[in-house]
Amino acid sequence: MEKVKFTINGVHVEAAKGDNVLDTARRYGFEIPSLCHHEAVTPYGACRLCLVEIKKGNRTKLTTCCNYEALEGIEVVTENDKIRKHRAMVLELILAEAPTSPQVRKLAQEYGVDTSRFRREEGDVSQERDNCILCGLCARVCEEIVGVSALSFNGRGDNRGVGGPFMEEPQSCIACGACAWVCPTDCIGFEERDGKRILKKWNRELPMATDENGRPVAPQYQLFHFKKIAGLADDFFKKAPGAR
Ligand code: SF4
Ligand code: SF4
Ligand code: FES
Repeated sequence: MEKVKFTINGVHVEAAKGDNVLDTARRYGFEIPSLCHHEAVTPYGACRLCLVEIKKGNRTKLTTCCNYEALEGIEVVTENDKIRKHRAMVLELILAEAPTSPQVRKLAQEYGVDTSRFRREEGDVSQERDNCILCGLCARVCEEIVGVSALSFNGRGDNRGVGGPFMEEPQSCIACGACAWVCPTDCIGFEERDGKRILKKWNRELPMATDENGRPVAPQYQLFHFKKIAGLADDFFKKAPGAR
């Protein structure tokens, strides 16, 4: 595997060609904040929190590093006054979108941001948007990890949101809950009630398969999906008689 060598805060590091700077920095123990990144999916560069300074040749620029490829000889700085100031501004914008998210509030406080000068404030959370910061992580995980592609961006400007086609119930959603698990602001969530898994944000309610004692195991569609992608026999989930 081809390697590249560069420095982070003066420390010599190594990455595989094609790796991004954020994952490499974290592997070496450098802390860089992020909300829209997960190493298991394609970087999207939405939250802009992972801003760092990168010197390449004679040029230094402030850039997001989740979607910046690790290159031979670059010099990365992960923290200084200028970077903190920019991250604080970004957090003020994010706080306006997710004013009641504990995760966002905590991160904002670490950068000295308690309130936002921008539009949405506490108590003014849009029903459609709630604490969604449009990071797209849910849609990427659904497509790249679960293999379902139930979610996408819809609309523009203030009406932009993530959900099923035309913001209606995503019919291909198997209610696996991966999107809820990965959401950085916890604005998806799900509950199990009356033999169903309910994802309110997606208007999706799917029946649970149960074991021989009637205890819920997993959504029937989820078991069906896994059975299909793993090429398992039809009767594989014997303990989930409700599974299709
Ligand atoms: S719960 Fe539905 S939308 Fe969420 S990751 Fe699973 S299949 Fe995709
Ligand atoms: S629902 Fe969560 S994961 Fe999906 S775009 Fe909004 S904040 Fe990101
Ligand atoms: S983590 Fe890089 S832009 Fe969000």
